[in-house]
Amino acid sequence: MTDPLVEIDNLGLTIGGQPVLRGVSLSVATGESLGLVGESGSGKSMTLRCLTRLLPPGARATGEVRLAGTDVLGLRERQLRAHRQSIGMVFQDPRTAINPLHTVGSYMVERAKDSGSGLRDATDRALDVLQAMGISDPQRRMDQYPFELSGGLLQRVMIASVVMEQPRLILADEPTTALDVTTQAEVLRLLDGLREKNSAAMIFVTHDLDLAAAVCDRIAVMYGGRILEVGPATTLPDAAVHPYTRALLAARPPLTHRLETIPTVPGVPAPAARTGDGCPFAARCPVALPVCSETLPGMETVGSSQVRCHRASEVQSGALDAELPLRLELQ
Ligand SMILES: Nc1ncnc2c1ncn2[C@@H]1O[C@H](COP(=O)(O)OP(=O)(O)O)[C@@H](O)[C@H]1O
Ligand SMILES: [Mg+2]
Repeated sequence: MTDPLVEIDNLGLTIGGQPVLRGVSLSVATGESLGLVGESGSGKSMTLRCLTRLLPPGARATGEVRLAGTDVLGLRERQLRAHRQSIGMVFQDPRTAINPLHTVGSYMVERAKDSGSGLRDATDRALDVLQAMGISDPQRRMDQYPFELSGGLLQRVMIASVVMEQPRLILADEPTTALDVTTQAEVLRLLDGLREKNSAAMIFVTHDLDLAAAVCDRIAVMYGGRILEVGPATTLPDAAVHPYTRALLAARPPLTHRLETIPTVPGVPAPAARTGDGCPFAARCPVALPVCSETLPGMETVGSSQVRCHRASEVQSGALDAELPLRLELQ
């Protein structure tokens, strides 16, 4: 096994004294893609921000974050620029990340020059990568302004610009949420193809477990500032153990039926600040025991998952399937 490129060990984060992340441990190997999945407010974006040290004012991180052996939390201010340049970031809304006053071409060429190319070479590389992102007639697109492009096309441009810098790590935070479902899958496939070609690692943040399973090698499930389950993307959707993961899966829209209302996980998401030392999901969990709101057990291997749950072995045995279905029953 190759050394992990990203090692996060017992990461804690408080903002203004309020806990946001607790005991987060994750690793990503070179060339691997990890999906980070959970409802809004779970702490996914803050976990990525600890990797880039782009934290809000009043934030304090503890524990360890390493990128290729470098202690990220220990970097000095003047070292941060170079550190951030080694990471490619794809955000949710390309329109906030791309200067609207410059053409697509000048944006792309600037990015290529930042990574050390001359002008001619930068233009050629920009055209190549745009083509690889499935953009036809890239020359014409280079002469256009961001407002002339659809959201989907502009997101491809942003991803192309990130890929062009050949980062060893790509952080993609809900990169396709603003796009329609078909475009989402296509853009993600292209991103993942280019990632694989460059042997880059990726952390892909999404609230959509199926999308993560389709794109990533492994999936980490996060809730209330904690990692509750980690498993292979090939098995997790059918063999999830943590009741929270099962609730996310049960809340997926059915494949074959149209529903009047979109299913959601019952109950209200708990902020990390309020869940103390217990399992953050305890208050919403259909099979919680009294101990669950007192303590959260450490990670253990159950089936193909790594999971933190007092009832993990019972879930895995199937004894709790009635309370924790993997899909909603359809009538
Ligand atoms: N700028 C901020 N200031 C204070 N607290 C914040 C800020 N941004 C996020 N948080 C807190 O951090 C928690 C995790 O947020 P975030 O990582 O953005 O969640 P996710 O990306 O999973 O939706 C939120 O529930 C919120 O309480
Ligand atoms: Mg987020």
